Amino acid sequence: MAFFKKNKNETGGLPDNLPGHIAFIMDGNGRWAKKRAMPRRFGHREGAKNFRRIARYCKDIGIKNISFYAFSTENWKRPKDEVEAIIELFREYIVDVRNYIGEEVRVLFLGDKSIFDEDLQKKMNDLEEDTKDNREMTMLLAINYGGRAENFKLFDMAVRICRILFYRRFMA
Ligand code: FPP
Repeated sequence: MAFFKKNKNETGGLPDNLPGHIAFIMDGNGRWAKKRAMPRRFGHREGAKNFRRIARYCKDIGIKNISFYAFSTENWKRPKDEVEAIIELFREYIVDVRNYIGEEVRVLFLGDKSIFDEDLQKKMNDLEEDTKDNREMTMLLAINYGGRAENFKLFDMAVRICRILFYRRFMA
């Protein structure tokens, strides 16, 4: 994929003043699958692959903080099999997160972890603990996050803008 440069010395074309923090709304997976007459869970699998590519790329070009809005409290209303597929992907991807973004990344989770199975909570807590001294990049993963009612309209507007940009850039 042409978008991904090999390392931080090969970032030709990028501006010098890169942002210190980039947030991604993981969106468009369902539409990506629908366009290809596939079940939504295939779209989530492809979305998760993009998560990995994007995280690695951001680290390679020297972004200090990245956030991924992966799964909101609203998303629990989706069909059970879809929710299970998303949680399985999440589990799969956080287990070996250090294999694909390296050892120097701090991982933090946003949102209420207490709803997840004990073993998944432990994985999240261990990852936060094991990476707490890493300084090259901080990666925030928002899972089971909710917005306060008064922030909802603003958040919704930001989501709409970001989902259009994300979909055009990575899923089209
Ligand atoms: C929104 O797409 C995406 C989600 C609700 C789930 C995203 C989470 C994962 C793929 C799990 C892996 C996560 C990490 C951080 C590794 P959508 O179904 O709303 O798409 P649509 O807008 O096209 O319907």
